[in-house]
Amino acid sequence: MRRKLVVGNWKMHGSRPANAELLAAVAGARPYGCDVAVCVPFVYLGEAAAQLAGTDVRWGAQDVSPHDQGAYTGEISAPMLQELGCRYAIVGHSERRAYHAENDELVAAKAQAALGRGVTPIVCVGETLAQRDAGETEAVVKRQLSAVIHTLAHCAAEMVVAYEPVWAIGTGRTATPDQAQAVHAVLRAQLHAATGRGDRMRILYGGSVKADNAQALFGMADIDGGLIGGASLKAADFIAICRAAG
Ligand code: 13P
Repeated sequence: MRRKLVVGNWKMHGSRPANAELLAAVAGARPYGCDVAVCVPFVYLGEAAAQLAGTDVRWGAQDVSPHDQGAYTGEISAPMLQELGCRYAIVGHSERRAYHAENDELVAAKAQAALGRGVTPIVCVGETLAQRDAGETEAVVKRQLSAVIHTLAHCAAEMVVAYEPVWAIGTGRTATPDQAQAVHAVLRAQLHAATGRGDRMRILYGGSVKADNAQALFGMADIDGGLIGGASLKAADFIAICRAAG
């Protein structure tokens, strides 16, 4: 039985007072019947660590450098995330693929850098609307995932995968539970063929998950929780989504 996981992706939102309130509410609503984490902007990781230490709510980053150290101005390394107690690092989010020209090989290198320091990569895959309309969904997500599987090799079973259809992110247009399940099943089969442990790996759904659609999504056979954007910024909404997974 896979334990469900709900991860808040705050993206580039937050302020110190607002974060303190949100984290206190999320920690205060424990216990959850699932694993819960928040991926916050780098600059707030120290505060998240201080506030969540001693709880079972985990924290993580939204990106990581493929390099451990060096002359890479503006980058944040996996050893730094490890030092701050990060449990997770999101890699390959569609916003980074689109706005920072990240390709499959770079995403795979980032996943490898994170895993090398005990930080679990949450590897995002997902098709655009044009790709879906062209019938390319399966080919796109399989290509994105296979680069990471290839690079991580025998450690591939350690990652978490997030299916985030680009057309559902921040649009209010959620994939139906059946649409999401169909892609999750494809991803799980691919993971299982590569690792032999696909049945134990967690595949999250992301894209306009809200309190009122979470339960239907999380009830699908291959959906093991969610990667939550906008709704993770409102304590009541995020807590309700975590409860829906529990
Ligand atoms: P929304 O939940 O705001 O659609 O964002 C999803 C997402 O991109 C999470 O990583």
